[in-house]
Amino acid sequence: MNLVLMGLPGAGKGTQAERIVEQYGIPHISTGDMFRAAMKEGTELGLQAKSFMDKGELVPDEVTIGIVRDRLSKEDCQKGFLLDGFPRTVPQADALENLLVDLNKKIDFVINITVDMSILMERLTGRRICKECGSTYHLVFNPPTKEGVCDRCGGELYQRADDNAETVQNRLDVNIKQQEPLLTFYETKGYLRTIDGQQDIQKVFADIEQLLGGLA
Ligand code: AP5
Repeated sequence: MNLVLMGLPGAGKGTQAERIVEQYGIPHISTGDMFRAAMKEGTELGLQAKSFMDKGELVPDEVTIGIVRDRLSKEDCQKGFLLDGFPRTVPQADALENLLVDLNKKIDFVINITVDMSILMERLTGRRICKECGSTYHLVFNPPTKEGVCDRCGGELYQRADDNAETVQNRLDVNIKQQEPLLTFYETKGYLRTIDGQQDIQKVFADIEQLLGGLA
């Protein structure tokens, strides 16, 4: 099962990715998570990514493509993969096509989760994430049972540095610009499937499961 999850910031990619990897046992490859891990470790990649992420800009294509190339070549991707937040530009999509040819793989579906712009700001500024296991919550739409504490592992919840209103606005503007040509790219190839991300979290996942039923 080789999947790509697309959607604007806050559409619910990470939320659905948690459920997909649990259900189907494929590795979750999130470029955003990889950059944040590198930032935490203080590596050269982390320092480079931070200067773009703090402003809500995209990290340059050559850097992003490089880390995905390394990750997809790992043994655990033999059984499939879930790409989350990559590709985000047409050059990244082109590079992915070439890489998959080299690895003798093919994308099954590009799942685009759609949500109205008016909702995304509220989703992102209210998001909280577990420091330990990375589970995602929302103060209103998906609150933890105990405030500030992860239901799954008891870890402390925090707010991402780029989830303040000003940076969120720039992330949305930047991603909207890139999205249209990317959707056309995948529509032309016949990979694109659209899922209504405005339903509740379980219903969105049910629609994804229905789509993936034929592949599992
Ligand atoms: P990244 O980490 O990928 O962030 P993003 O694309 O901005 O997406 P998010 O993680 O913010 O949103 P999501 O869709 O996963 O939403 P979530 O499920 O958490 O990228 C961060 C940065 O890294 C980029 O800005 C860029 O700088 C860099 N980067 C990453 N990839 C790159 C690339 N390929 N090229 C260049 N640069 C790159 O949900 C959001 C909230 O809504 C949560 O609180 C959740 O609980 C809630 N929610 C989810 N679903 C629902 C629902 N159905 N109903 C109600 N609430 C919901």
